[in-house]
Amino acid sequence: MKPLIVANWKCNPITLREAENLFDSIRKGIKNVKNSEVVICPPFVWLSNLLASKPYTLNPKLGAQDCFWEGKGAFTGEISPAMLKNLGVDYVIIGHSERRKYQKETDEMINKKLKAALKTGLKVILCIDNISQIPSFLRKRGGRRGQSPLRLKKDLRGLIKKELANLIIAYEPIFAIGTGKPCRVEKANKMRILIKKEVLNKKIPILYGGSINSQNAGDYIKEGGFQGLLIGSTSLNAKEFIKIVKDIDLN
Ligand code: PGA
Repeated sequence: MKPLIVANWKCNPITLREAENLFDSIRKGIKNVKNSEVVICPPFVWLSNLLASKPYTLNPKLGAQDCFWEGKGAFTGEISPAMLKNLGVDYVIIGHSERRKYQKETDEMINKKLKAALKTGLKVILCIDNISQIPSFLRKRGGRRGQSPLRLKKDLRGLIKKELANLIIAYEPIFAIGTGKPCRVEKANKMRILIKKEVLNKKIPILYGGSINSQNAGDYIKEGGFQGLLIGSTSLNAKEFIKIVKDIDLN
């Protein structure tokens, strides 16, 4: 699999013009990148403009930062996976720790969102900060230790193996998010190995996220064994972000 480099713009920038400029700089800067997949996840409101402004090229793809679990209906303020898919969005981030914290998203809610998004055909980046956040239907033992295979069957109901092929896990330790204090590469690698052991499908790619910059980015891929990165604040700096993508693409 090609390294996957995901930009999470979070609640930035606050004007369409800034969003278009940032997107355009990144798009131009990475136009020759062929060995990596790059995904930009702007706020919902900028998605259609960015999709329209993008002549169809390999990179970057577009992603959303969240979605709801229902397809449509009386759910004020929500955006459904089907809406994203119909717009031309390829990816969605689910379960980011900032949503768990500020929107009080629970594992149950995240589980429902995850299933709905996968069923719609979106590629899902599930963020976890520790192993307990891996949804039970993805766990080898079918949830918490000792849970019966019956439970696993129940959790997996409605999901086909092919849909799990669109799942990506991002390991994002809370202490490293937005703090400038990244997780040490050896420690992150240990977590990556543990996550791999716990999940049902060994092919699920695992990304690292948390205080990535152009100095440390490559280490998580080369030494840490990660298949990609989820980048927050540094992705708002076109020059830095392009440097990360190009360095990874060449190595
Ligand atoms: P950060 O954020 O790169 O600013 O630490 C990462 C994330 O929250 O995905």
